[in-house]
Amino acid sequence: MKKKKIAVAYSGGLDTSVMVKWLSEKYNAEIITVTGNLGQTKELEGLEEKAKKTGAVKSYIQDLRHEFITEYVWKALKAGALYEGEYPLACAIGRPLLAKMLVEVALQEGADAVAHGCTGKGNDQVRFEVGIQTLAPKLEIIAPLRTWEFKSREEEIDYAFENNIPIKITKNSPYSIDENIFGIAIECGILEDPKLAPPEDAYQITTSPRLAPDKPEVVSITFEKGIPTLINGNEMTPVEMLEYLNISGGKNGIGRIDMIENRVVGIKSREIYEAPGAVILHEAHHELEKMVLDKETFRYKQNISNKIANLIYDGLWFSPLFNSLMAFVDSTQEFVTGEIVLELYKGNMKVLSRNSNYSLYNMKLATYSNEDSFDHAASGGFLKIYGLPYKTISQLRNTQIEKVMV
Ligand code: ARG
Repeated sequence: MKKKKIAVAYSGGLDTSVMVKWLSEKYNAEIITVTGNLGQTKELEGLEEKAKKTGAVKSYIQDLRHEFITEYVWKALKAGALYEGEYPLACAIGRPLLAKMLVEVALQEGADAVAHGCTGKGNDQVRFEVGIQTLAPKLEIIAPLRTWEFKSREEEIDYAFENNIPIKITKNSPYSIDENIFGIAIECGILEDPKLAPPEDAYQITTSPRLAPDKPEVVSITFEKGIPTLINGNEMTPVEMLEYLNISGGKNGIGRIDMIENRVVGIKSREIYEAPGAVILHEAHHELEKMVLDKETFRYKQNISNKIANLIYDGLWFSPLFNSLMAFVDSTQEFVTGEIVLELYKGNMKVLSRNSNYSLYNMKLATYSNEDSFDHAASGGFLKIYGLPYKTISQLRNTQIEKVMV
């Protein structure tokens, strides 16, 4: 009988390493591991060898960094997508791309199933599985962590030892960390108690604002149609831009987020994020939009941003509504071109300068000096009509203040 073939989303960590062996035995299957490089700082070198030693017959490692930024990160940025007002969604936009990569390899290899190492109470299982179902409805999906027998990390480690699975048991980090070039999510351990502030050692890529340099750092970002093109006037690749901003922001204590959030599965969880580059880019992009978008578009887009953030968070990246709302977003970005200069200082950001050829800010209209060209007298007539509904209501319902006072 032909052996079953399973393509596994593989990071090389404990869970996915144990999973490779476990799946090959449980299903008597050939395992192909698939790893995406989304700019995580974790070592990818030696991963292929490690996968093979763990029992995989074949191992793919793909550099997805450019695609991740240009096809995923830039969309989230243009949309202004911040989940529950704060989280720039790094993990949530990474999963659809990883799902796509997994499906592509599975189809190419003629695999019968795909497997991932997400737990049963997280959001990532949702993002993976909705993505896979959408892109390849016929592929079977296996999620061993939801059903296997291991009850703890220790049991997985025992299994790894018994089966000669190479695992790196380093300083036994108490945290679960998920990272890519757009940001890092840190959970578990003491962070689960929302009464306690996160200890300094939870943070991986940012300096504490208290220890950040005493001298502010200035960074300029130039956008074209909503997409960053220059940093400090220099051309950089998208990957270089994010690397640069993560470092500059990180050393100035920018991008730390400590929040309670609503998960898809209905629980609230406490999350620590570090996303210096993402936070800087969102701030600059938003600042530019304030200059170039007309009032109604700007206000309407706030609702769309929120909706898009929810869709991304909820695993609906590959969905008709997401595509439709992105079409709206793209049309709003036509004139989001210009330069924003920010100052980074001890965990804070300040706008130093805004400049755009499409700016709707008109000094002649805004000024209170004698250069003023605004027609003050016209406001009189405007207000007679603008206030009319409320005047009518007040008279009809006798809610005017003179009545209350007598
Ligand atoms: N709560 C975040 C999200 O849903 C982060 C999840 C990342 N996973 C992890 N193992 N830390 O996007």
